[in-house]
Amino acid sequence: MTRWLVAGAGGMLGTDLVAALASRGEAVTGMDRAGLDVTDAASVTDAITRHRPDVVVNCAAWTAVDDAEASEEQALAVNAGGAARLAAGCAAGGARMVQVSTDYVFAGDVVADEGPGRFGGDVGRPYAEDDVPAPRTAYGRTKLAGERAVLDRLPGSAYVVRTAWLYGAHGPNFVRTMIKLADQRPTVDVVDDQHGQPTWTADVAAQIIALVHSSAAPGIYHATSSGQTTWFGLAREVFGLLGADPARVRPIPSSSLLRPAPRPACSVLGHRAWAGPQGPGVRPIGDWRAALHRAFPALVAAQQAAAAGQPASS
Ligand SMILES: NC(=O)c1ccc[n+]([C@@H]2O[C@H](COP(=O)([O-])OP(=O)(O)OC[C@H]3O[C@@H](n4cnc5c(N)ncnc54)[C@H](OP(=O)(O)O)[C@@H]3O)[C@@H](O)[C@H]2O)c1
Repeated sequence: MTRWLVAGAGGMLGTDLVAALASRGEAVTGMDRAGLDVTDAASVTDAITRHRPDVVVNCAAWTAVDDAEASEEQALAVNAGGAARLAAGCAAGGARMVQVSTDYVFAGDVVADEGPGRFGGDVGRPYAEDDVPAPRTAYGRTKLAGERAVLDRLPGSAYVVRTAWLYGAHGPNFVRTMIKLADQRPTVDVVDDQHGQPTWTADVAAQIIALVHSSAAPGIYHATSSGQTTWFGLAREVFGLLGADPARVRPIPSSSLLRPAPRPACSVLGHRAWAGPQGPGVRPIGDWRAALHRAFPALVAAQQAAAAGQPASS
């Protein structure tokens, strides 16, 4: 049986991954920051020698995108240094590794208005796994450095799984915020000029498990929903699912929200690697709207539990 070690198991994706593995009867050890600090070499070595995993999944990350602008070194220590340390531990222990990464490795800064979708203007189509990254933020630079650190150290036995626009039951996220605001405010202003793929953490978890159990070639995979929308489109869908009037969500431009880190105007990712000749034969995650509908009861329950001061169940 495959022995899994999940770093960052206290986070939104890590929690769902550990739960998904446990529910499939897999041998999994989930470690949060208190048990495994990826910036601490001794902590990493200890975890790998003690648990002797076959696969390490790195869900640990500095994810505060705006804070990273002023603290890039600290973000780098987690997102690149931590990834490198785990990869070195895997190399020494003979384990494979999955490094979770992000659409922010791409520029996503120009929108081409062609065809039914909007795509990163520097490529004019969904970003392919092998497109050249060009991060525009400190967070994106540190995550790209993490990808490279892992692929350099484990060229034959690592997967980089890029995801984006995550929501889930176990952490703050945009969908849960909209569920809360629908209850609290008559109207909500949401940006309508950033395009991406809302993605459920449980779907990414399932994709990671399927990838590891396949005979897929090592390398980069994109684990996002298919289709695309804007934050405004996503908020309207949430209001509709709640039975609230979607017209209470009003569109605004990104320029009206001043933030330290620029957001990609369009970071839609393509999914070719799942289907290619070297691919794992695993179907990509489906349509973003269908995923949101599947996830919604768990998200509402989590938000209600949070409002009542209770922990969310898994
Ligand atoms: N959320 C998104 O929309 C999104 C989009 C694209 C990609 N991703 C990627 O998906 C992965 C999972 O993200 P997420 O949304 O689950 O983020 P999250 O909820 O912020 O989880 C990240 C976890 O990493 C932990 N961590 C931070 N520093 C650590 C350290 N030095 N050692 C060990 N653990 C540490 C955090 O612990 P503390 O809580 O104690 O800080 C947190 O539990 C990350 O690689 C992220 O870059 C996320």
